[in-house]
Amino acid sequence: MQQKPIRIAPSILSADFSCLGEEIRAVDNAGADWIHIDIMDGHFVPNLTIGPEVVRALRSHSNLPFDVHLMISPVDPYIESFAEAGSDIITVHAEAVHHLHRTVQYIKSLGKNVGVAINPGTSLHSVKPLLNELDLVLIMTVNPGFGGQQFISSQIEKIKELRGCIDELDKHIDLQVDGGINQNNAAEVIEAGADVLVAGSATFAGGSYKENILSLRSAFENSQSKTQTVNSVNAQKD
Ligand code: DX5
Ligand code: ZN
Repeated sequence: MQQKPIRIAPSILSADFSCLGEEIRAVDNAGADWIHIDIMDGHFVPNLTIGPEVVRALRSHSNLPFDVHLMISPVDPYIESFAEAGSDIITVHAEAVHHLHRTVQYIKSLGKNVGVAINPGTSLHSVKPLLNELDLVLIMTVNPGFGGQQFISSQIEKIKELRGCIDELDKHIDLQVDGGINQNNAAEVIEAGADVLVAGSATFAGGSYKENILSLRSAFENSQSKTQTVNSVNAQKD
């Protein structure tokens, strides 16, 4: 099904960890749509973050969907804890599990929305056979592990191809993009077909969270209207 209106999911990896509850309330008030929570294990990715108890502690700070991105392996033994802690969407990496179909069914059996993420070096083939089972596909545009990395632009083609596959289906699947998204590349990512943008540094790096979120959300419309203005100026010159 077709692309939905853009949703912005601030990644709290770039928030002030000494006051995460406050930071979540702040981005909620600033117009975020989801809260993106990055879980890292120092094994699947070279960094460590938080576990289910922190997710549980944060739950009372916002009613927005908790979009939990599990960058851990093994993942199956921890899924129930993250579900009980208050996750709404649980995303696992195709590269991190042996039996992806089984893991997807398990998340669904817990009554949660399920997503599958793929790294920049992973082909869409690893998610295509399961697309009909999923609520979300996450295309990584950095290698997972850290916030503040540079966007890998070769992934744009993958986003376009996935958009085409989703548009052919009868059900809606969110196409989420995560890594290096900022005010300069958001329009290109949306144009390629994304409808959920994760943004860590671009949300939390200074200034007003509200303005940061708004400028990501409206990036595509702004770039379209600039193009139209340039075209009409050029037409007047001709
Ligand atoms: C990277 C994480 C991202 C990260 C995004 O492994 O999955 O969610 O926090 O941060 P930025 O937006 O700064 O690239
Ligand atoms: Zn993430």
